[in-house]
Amino acid sequence: MHLLPVSLTVSCLLSLAVDTLAVPHPSIFTGAHMGLSRRAAKRRSPDEVAASLQKRKLALEAKYGIGHAKNRKRASGQNLITNEDADSSYFGSLAIGTPAVSFDIILDTGSSDLWVASSETTGASTNIPSGIATFDSASSSTFKSLNQSFSITYDSGEAQGTLAEDTVQMAGFAVSSQVFATVSEVSSNVLSAPVSGLMGLAWQAIASSGATPFWQALAASNTTLTDGLFAVQLTRYNNDSKVTALEPGGTFTLGAVNQSLYTGEIDYQDIPTGEVGYWIQQITGLTVNGDAVSVGTGSDAYAAIDTGTTLVGGPSDVISAIYSKISGAQAGTGSLEGYWTYPCSQEVTVALKFGDSSISWPISSDDFEFESADSSGSTCIGAFFEVDNTGTTAPAWIVGDTFLKNVYSVFKYDPPSVGFAKLSSTALAMNGVSAPAPSATIGSVQAEVSATGTVDTGANRESSAALPMRSSVGVGLLTVVATTLFASLLL
Ligand SMILES: *[C@@H]1O[C@H](CO)[C@@H](O)[C@H](O)[C@H]1NC(C)=O
Ligand SMILES: *[C@@H]1O[C@H](CO)[C@@H](O)[C@H](O)[C@H]1NC(C)=O
Ligand SMILES: *[C@@H]1O[C@H](CO)[C@@H](O)[C@H](O)[C@H]1NC(C)=O
Ligand SMILES: *[C@@H]1O[C@H](CO)[C@@H](O)[C@H](O)[C@H]1NC(C)=O
Repeated sequence: MHLLPVSLTVSCLLSLAVDTLAVPHPSIFTGAHMGLSRRAAKRRSPDEVAASLQKRKLALEAKYGIGHAKNRKRASGQNLITNEDADSSYFGSLAIGTPAVSFDIILDTGSSDLWVASSETTGASTNIPSGIATFDSASSSTFKSLNQSFSITYDSGEAQGTLAEDTVQMAGFAVSSQVFATVSEVSSNVLSAPVSGLMGLAWQAIASSGATPFWQALAASNTTLTDGLFAVQLTRYNNDSKVTALEPGGTFTLGAVNQSLYTGEIDYQDIPTGEVGYWIQQITGLTVNGDAVSVGTGSDAYAAIDTGTTLVGGPSDVISAIYSKISGAQAGTGSLEGYWTYPCSQEVTVALKFGDSSISWPISSDDFEFESADSSGSTCIGAFFEVDNTGTTAPAWIVGDTFLKNVYSVFKYDPPSVGFAKLSSTALAMNGVSAPAPSATIGSVQAEVSATGTVDTGANRESSAALPMRSSVGVGLLTVVATTLFASLLL
């Protein structure tokens, strides 16, 4: 299949995200009501009325953190991640509807919309893979269509569908009236079995739908999560010759950090003022085998911390400066344009520093060495590639899984910040383990909030019609672009 040159592809993706980085919406509490889901009116017995009133009182107390709620134990939960195609992408699972049906979804801190493939989809032209779980709105008693179209555009196509609301459960939490899209058509490289969709884990400000993301609805409620954050640990299999398509991918923890997965302190750095949308961090130091490379200042060095991107993309001048420190490195041409190759025999350790931190986080040379470029295995493709964000307000850098496999990552609501810590020996021992990938398990819900009334109205959508397509999923979908590129190289 035809692929756009990578740098062009990337700049197209980023240009689509232009207005999504505009003035962030204040991340205010948007009216989450604890546990009060709508139900059909019916005559109730006095006992039922009393029980209902009691529940209402507890819900109100929980909402305002008063009464019993003051001492109520708040919660956290864990979701096991699957590593797909030797670290190309990482997915988790969630459940939608009543009764709840589970789906595998890409966990993407580089976008903010949730979507799953719809069951009302037939025919090869839709590119919905056969055999994946699809969402059947008719079988959920809590489903509500918003009768509003949803469309995300990226390099060679798009995902299209309709916005809806339903109860969404993940990692032991539920959000009722969560806005998501049921997608009826995608471009050919968007979904690969068993994945049915994508969960955006960045901030509401860049949501195409305008809706509050699942994690943010929970964090904003103050009384639900033990800590307003989620944390990610990702496994490494790309240096393992016995890797299979699906391997254990690590853990996603919502509402707490898991102390058995890191050592030392978590080093938090705030998202720069006015940049709350992507999980932005400013790169303030970059070394290649200990040699410093200048990354510039201010927004020239802003990076989106993105679990939904396989590699690390940055400005072409800095990327070429990185490879100038590696003897024998060469800029790629043709389908490798934007990438660089180098002799596989070289060990390359790039280390990154963020914000005001004094800590430099090294990336394993096993991750820098992304892929063999030839059958003899003597030339390798490096994991740092060129992104051109000229003319857009998208971040200059996208720091994806190549980096994130090397740290324990924490994404914090208040203050908006990203924290990194050293992986523990327990976490490191999960790399390359030969074990079955986790199956989608949902478990029981320990707490539920309601997210309502946060979608862009039709009027708002019309007023923004002159702007480029509001799409924030581009960054997340880089993983698909990269996977497809290398799949085609290997043919
Ligand atoms: C859905 O929207 C379309 C187009 O705006 C409109 O014609 C139709 O009546 C709407 N349907 C419902 C059920 O609101
Ligand atoms: C949540 O806590 C923050 C400060 O910690 C406070 O400003 C905000 O009003 C709280 N929101 C609710 C809904 O209690
Ligand atoms: C992969 O790399 C890790 C260190 O990054 C190392 O411990 C492990 O042995 C490597 N595995 C293989 C198969 O080379
Ligand atoms: C923390 O991670 C360890 C190792 O994966 C796991 O066994 C444990 O259940 C996790 N703890 C929580 C509270 O999720």
